[in-house]
Amino acid sequence: MHQDLEKVLITKEEIEAKVKEIAAELDRDYAGKQPLMLCILKGSVLFFSDIIRAMQIPLEIDFMAISSYGAGTTSGEVKLVKDLDRSIENKHVVIVEDIVDTGHTLFYLKRMLNQRHPASIKVCALLDKFERREADVVADYKAFDIANEFVVGYGLDYAQKYRNLPEIGVLKREIYEK
Ligand code: IMP
Repeated sequence: MHQDLEKVLITKEEIEAKVKEIAAELDRDYAGKQPLMLCILKGSVLFFSDIIRAMQIPLEIDFMAISSYGAGTTSGEVKLVKDLDRSIENKHVVIVEDIVDTGHTLFYLKRMLNQRHPASIKVCALLDKFERREADVVADYKAFDIANEFVVGYGLDYAQKYRNLPEIGVLKREIYEK
């Protein structure tokens, strides 16, 4: 375990097993629809690449960057940093997100994408911190529910660090309180 972690919450093996399950569900639900898998940078990059690699149906990918947090652990303003390359009109879009916390980011994103007339929009989230929800959004596909703790690893960061950890863990308090 990385020295800055207090504990490992979700192991690499648990993530792998769940990714397979969700990919199989997506394969079933989107058969014949060629979904547009949308990676929300940067947090969902590892989850996204594992999910699309485990899927077997034809699909497309695109990337969008949203910034909703500053360097710390509290929610800030939602800002579009990088838009999609192509139109999503009449496409079946699957937003792949790292974590739904207050839900503001997803709410903003869904509203913006809906204005572009996709055939459908669903959300696939790695983590759901449901206790913190403020906006009215749900993850249609979800790997894990977690309690209200600040987590890092498997794409998730604290001040841009720890994204490359293979597991998801709770950061030691002294790291973000110093
Ligand atoms: P929301 O708008 O409050 O739902 O915030 C969602 C975004 O905040 C996520 O996409 C993450 O980038 C970030 N975030 C929320 N909770 C955590 C956490 O525990 N660790 C790392 N990033 C987090």
